[in-house]
Amino acid sequence: MTIRILIVDDEPAQMHALCDTLGAHGYETTGLASSEAALQALRTDSYQLLLADLMLPGMDGIALVQAARALDPDLACVIMTGEGSISSAVQAMQVGALDYILKPFRVSVILPVLSRALETRRLRIQNALLEARLREHAVRLVRMNDDLRLAQQQAERANQAKSTFLSHLSHELRTPLNAILGFAQILVSEKLITTEPQKRQFAGNILTGARHLLKLSNEVLDLAKIESGRLLLEHDAVTVADVLEECRVLVDPQAQLRGILLRSTCPEHLCVRADRMRLKQVVINLLSNAVKYNREHGAINVQCTPSGQGTVRIAVQDTGCGLSAEQQAALYQPFNRLGQEGGKQDGSGLGLVVTKHLVEKMGGELGVVSTIGLGTTFWLTLPQAAPVVVPTLAVLPTAQDGHVGTSAPVADTSTVASEATRPDPAITPNP
Ligand SMILES: Nc1ncnc2c1ncn2[C@@H]1O[C@H](COP(=O)(O)OP(=O)(O)OP(=O)(O)O)[C@@H](O)[C@H]1O
Ligand SMILES: [Mg+2]
Repeated sequence: MTIRILIVDDEPAQMHALCDTLGAHGYETTGLASSEAALQALRTDSYQLLLADLMLPGMDGIALVQAARALDPDLACVIMTGEGSISSAVQAMQVGALDYILKPFRVSVILPVLSRALETRRLRIQNALLEARLREHAVRLVRMNDDLRLAQQQAERANQAKSTFLSHLSHELRTPLNAILGFAQILVSEKLITTEPQKRQFAGNILTGARHLLKLSNEVLDLAKIESGRLLLEHDAVTVADVLEECRVLVDPQAQLRGILLRSTCPEHLCVRADRMRLKQVVINLLSNAVKYNREHGAINVQCTPSGQGTVRIAVQDTGCGLSAEQQAALYQPFNRLGQEGGKQDGSGLGLVVTKHLVEKMGGELGVVSTIGLGTTFWLTLPQAAPVVVPTLAVLPTAQDGHVGTSAPVADTSTVASEATRPDPAITPNP
């Protein structure tokens, strides 16, 4: 690239001589007689070097260097001066000139000065680029450090949550295990004589403890699967009324024991997109909570309605003691039984955590509305699905009708619902 030099000298002969000499050495030169004209040229054109006389009419060389560098901080400036004004030349260097040349000058002196100034300019530009890149790196490093700190905090929190979970879990395991061991030891002991009714009672206690442990281990396994992303869900069209009825049948005996009336309303053909087995698990969890935390002779109302926005809402309303705002804020925390720890109702405080995860995994939402003293409504939404069409039976014409065929009824395969073909794993309500 050709180097462009702007020469400013009010002595025309000297200015032209300089332009010619430097031009002959490969530089592209522009000669001007005043600082004002030079500044105008610098505004419109780009130059690498300014070679200015110190003594100029109007704005002198020092002021020109200052103004020129304000326009282009990368511009290399060299001052030309007579023997008598070296102190002014030094002053020019203080305002940004890189060097000075004493008049009268020889080409052998000017050329090395100019190339030194241009080299300094090149190094300065390179330096500025490196500094900018360093600054960018520093900013990126600070950002990466912040991300790292955040990730570390998250990992520490997750670790802490795991430790808390494990210590709660070992506590939850220990209580029923101790009961099972204690009653089993009494039963096998030859020293401790037990009556038949006592034997039955102790065996019953062992069963209760074992069931509690089984439910707990199922819930912990579900949570582990959900958290590791290993929980595989079906996305079938499921008829809600059927699922609600199956859950009602399972939970009703519990409700009747406490004189609680369980009612359910749901449009007959309303369907949701869900995993049938997991939907049952969700509804049973909510229904058994509604029974456990209800008052004696209370009521449970299950309502299912299409929301009109492509979702279906299932609400389980009870007439229990209700949950305060603080209790609602602490819901869905593993093993947090919100004050029911010492109560009559059995549980481990995992049901709602699993329920919430399952509903969300099926593309829905779980929420709660509760008033102290009046009761609680847990509601969930799920994506609505087109109604499941029940298989219709068609009778093919028989030979007597004059056609070849069979009289056996066959299913119309185009209308077979996937839901009807899936096995329904056993789900038991909470004890
Ligand atoms: N319908 C409800 N009315 C009032 N409180 C409720 C209701 N449902 C849940 N809770 C409160 O929330 C807590 C957590 O419920 P969750 O179902 O997760 O656990 P749990 O019923 O204690 O045990 P389990 O793991 O057997 O379900 C309960 O212990 C209870 O205090
Ligand atoms: Mg529960």
